[in-house]
Amino acid sequence: MKKVYLETFGCQMNVSDSERVATLLESKGFEMTSEEDSADVVLLNTCSVREKAEHKLYTRVGQIQNFNESNPLIGVMGCVAQLEGETLFERNKGIDFVIGTKAVGRIDTAIEKAYQGKKKVLDLNNREFDYDWSTSETQRHSKYVAFVPIIEGCNKFCTYCIVPFSRGREKSLVASEIIRQVLELRRQGVKEIHLIGQNVNSYRPRNDSGLEKFKGATPFSKLLRAVAATDIERIKFTTSFPRDFHQDIVDAIDENQNLCNWVHLPVQSGSDKVLKAMRRGHTIENYKRRIDKIKSSDRNISLTTDLIVGFPSETLEDFKETKDLAKYCQFDSAYIFKYSQRPGTPAAEMKDDVTKEEKRERFLDLENVVRKSQKKSLKLKVGKTLEVLAEKVSNKKPNQLSGHSTCQTVVNFDANKSNLGDICKVQIQEAKANTLLGKLL
Ligand code: 5AD
Ligand code: SF4
Repeated sequence: MKKVYLETFGCQMNVSDSERVATLLESKGFEMTSEEDSADVVLLNTCSVREKAEHKLYTRVGQIQNFNESNPLIGVMGCVAQLEGETLFERNKGIDFVIGTKAVGRIDTAIEKAYQGKKKVLDLNNREFDYDWSTSETQRHSKYVAFVPIIEGCNKFCTYCIVPFSRGREKSLVASEIIRQVLELRRQGVKEIHLIGQNVNSYRPRNDSGLEKFKGATPFSKLLRAVAATDIERIKFTTSFPRDFHQDIVDAIDENQNLCNWVHLPVQSGSDKVLKAMRRGHTIENYKRRIDKIKSSDRNISLTTDLIVGFPSETLEDFKETKDLAKYCQFDSAYIFKYSQRPGTPAAEMKDDVTKEEKRERFLDLENVVRKSQKKSLKLKVGKTLEVLAEKVSNKKPNQLSGHSTCQTVVNFDANKSNLGDICKVQIQEAKANTLLGKLL
């Protein structure tokens, strides 16, 4: 039995693809292993959203070639594979096969071909079927939490972003299929599902199947209501696109307790000038109005975002506007990135004129602003009782369990293994830098 070691970089879509690849390979007689050293095949599921992420691939291939005594076949999948295609073989002689983002369903064939000595196997073709995946025996990253892709690809073409090139155009899965998957996951004991996609709220299926009964202004809010009706305990969704974020989504959350009180709404910059150059399709005023709607909900919805510092032409004044926006929004947490030029994107034609040092300073400065609102948000939860899904034994303390609240905060609490998989009532006692500490009630 051939052993496969699979390593995943990047976003949840990659994690989800990896889970499906592992499931497929096991069904074809391969064995998935967590031991790299004894693997016959090493698969690297790559990310290209920033330069650093892309470089990791080349570092890893070098390490595997130099230190792995089993001399495995090396395969590259994911966004770098899709973008670079066969040039990867020239760049790095150690790579044996390359599988694009739409060809993951044929990974077993690629491995077989590589084994038959047909080295340098390349498959960048389209999916044979629309999401022809059965979730029934999926190897998941968690027993209790599952990712369910609802839309793949991106049509937005923000000028800095490589995703529309690596993942192609938006393609939505029909709702009846999503519902079928959620019901199956629920039957398997999954407590929380994450509906995932680059822009979940741009969801637009080919037909109404599965949504007919549900009211709502946009197909996405109808989908939220349809998924809520499955009675799965918790539903989260990420990532949302500001331009397509409307009141109907907040209404759906307000009316369905199992839709969790968390929205991830990347804003990227607080300057209208920069947003325009990024071609985001929204202004700061639009964004603030959406935030106001979210904050006016009785569900106490937590709000997280993505921010980029040092986009070409960003002045100190523009950056100050980003800090002002972060203060206004009081994010519960945020991912901050230094702008990274991606060849082939429109922004790569602009001069990358904010120096490395300036990017670093702005990153730290903005991090400080966000840290304040994050700290405030965590402190406000001390003394309250939160519902926490006990997902795993804590990494540091074996007598503690760790999981997420409905609003996506990590909570650690003393409890034993028998509570794993339960949604526990936890009284919060202390706020740490990024997490909460509590006691089981
Ligand atoms: N440079 C820096 N950050 C980027 N992101 C996407 N492309 C780039 C880039 N070229 C960030 C955005 C996006 C998140 C997933 O990654 O903030 O929301
Ligand atoms: Fe990239 Fe913009 Fe699409 Fe998000 S919406 S994946 S940032 S192009």
